[in-house]
Amino acid sequence: MLGNTFGRIFQVTTCGESYGWHATTEQSGWGGAILTIVNGVPAGIRLDVARIQQELDKRRPGQSKLDSPRKETDRVEIVSGLGQGLTTGAPVGLLIRNVDTQDSHIEQYRAVKDVIRPGHAELNFFYKYGEHGDWCGAGRASGRETVGRVAGGAVAKQILAREGIEVLAHVIESHGIKGRCISDGTMIFEEMKANYRTNDLNCCDLSAAERMIADLLKVREAGDTAGGAIEIVARGVPAGLGEPVFDKIKATIAHGLCSIGAMTALEFGSGAAASRMLGSEWNDQPFVEAGRVRFHTNRCGGFLGGMSNGEDLVMRMSVKATPTISKQQDTVDMMTLEQKKLAAITRRDISICPRIYPVAEAMVAIALLDALFLARGWCGLSHLDKKWQNLAEPRHRGDYSI
Ligand SMILES: Cc1cc2nc3c(=O)[nH]c(=O)nc-3n(C[C@H](O)[C@H](O)[C@H](O)COP(=O)(O)O)c2cc1C
Repeated sequence: MLGNTFGRIFQVTTCGESYGWHATTEQSGWGGAILTIVNGVPAGIRLDVARIQQELDKRRPGQSKLDSPRKETDRVEIVSGLGQGLTTGAPVGLLIRNVDTQDSHIEQYRAVKDVIRPGHAELNFFYKYGEHGDWCGAGRASGRETVGRVAGGAVAKQILAREGIEVLAHVIESHGIKGRCISDGTMIFEEMKANYRTNDLNCCDLSAAERMIADLLKVREAGDTAGGAIEIVARGVPAGLGEPVFDKIKATIAHGLCSIGAMTALEFGSGAAASRMLGSEWNDQPFVEAGRVRFHTNRCGGFLGGMSNGEDLVMRMSVKATPTISKQQDTVDMMTLEQKKLAAITRRDISICPRIYPVAEAMVAIALLDALFLARGWCGLSHLDKKWQNLAEPRHRGDYSI
């Protein structure tokens, strides 16, 4: 399998499956691990393991009635790249074991291993890997794969925090119920931050959150699942980040976000609404504040010419309903090509939204740090124009002590 690494200089590689398989010379069996290797971490950085664990806990299943009852502890173990708490410059290895891989669940998957789960990825994996593909819990196509991304993103976030850059995401829509958000100007970042993770859905519009959660519990009763949308904001990103042609910061972020399972659409700033606007309505008009160019609005989402403009980066991502549902659906047995019926009995998230937002934060953090390293690498080689010092000298220092 190719394509398990994201990033050009700051690189995050993951391996591991939903249930996985472990083997030694003495014994083997179900229950592997997700392993993340982070390449390109500078030496001498104090990595706070508790803060990495906090990121993983945001995504951990079994925390509310909205997500899968699978009881993974998602305890992170750093197995390389650290010497007495400080990074050594060597690859940082983060291990998260799969602990809730009981036989009863494995047998549920075995019973339907050749049957296509509508909306899921079995058929395409079968086309590509044949009968040797991993059938248990969807293997690498499982949402479990994303715990490794969050681990890598947690390392990126700690380095970004030193530059005063933070990345937060929240749920802004669920099953057609919309919440207020930053991209349409009905919420400000401070409110998002104050209400961040104060309800099971992590919707920062608290009254919309109540309606969304009540609706999802009804969806759950009906044996169904629901889609929604999240909004991601990066604050403190220096102007000029991103390379203007193929490696636009927008493109790098899109690469990261579009690689997450279950995402179906991505918008930047005012997004698709721009297609219905006049130039006079869409253009963000600049003004000068404290000697710096600012913009009255942020319809471009902080992206112009492939680079950041110094305002918040704002993205929205649509998320489809969880493919696994309890309702009976038509399907096909991939081996016999017989027509079948399937009502999945396996564990699943009612909505992927409350579990995908930390993954989106992680991918944006990795993309930003990689772009920052790339810019500084080029700056170091080129000794060109002083304007690049803006990237070399952080403008906003956070109050984080790393
Ligand atoms: C955090 C997360 C949790 C997920 N949980 C489930 C789940 O419980 N059940 C399920 O059928 N799909 C779940 N998915 C979705 C599948 O992983 C995804 O639909 C599948 O890989 C097919 O990819 P695609 O939807 O991008 O085509 C989850 C995805 C993510 C990112």
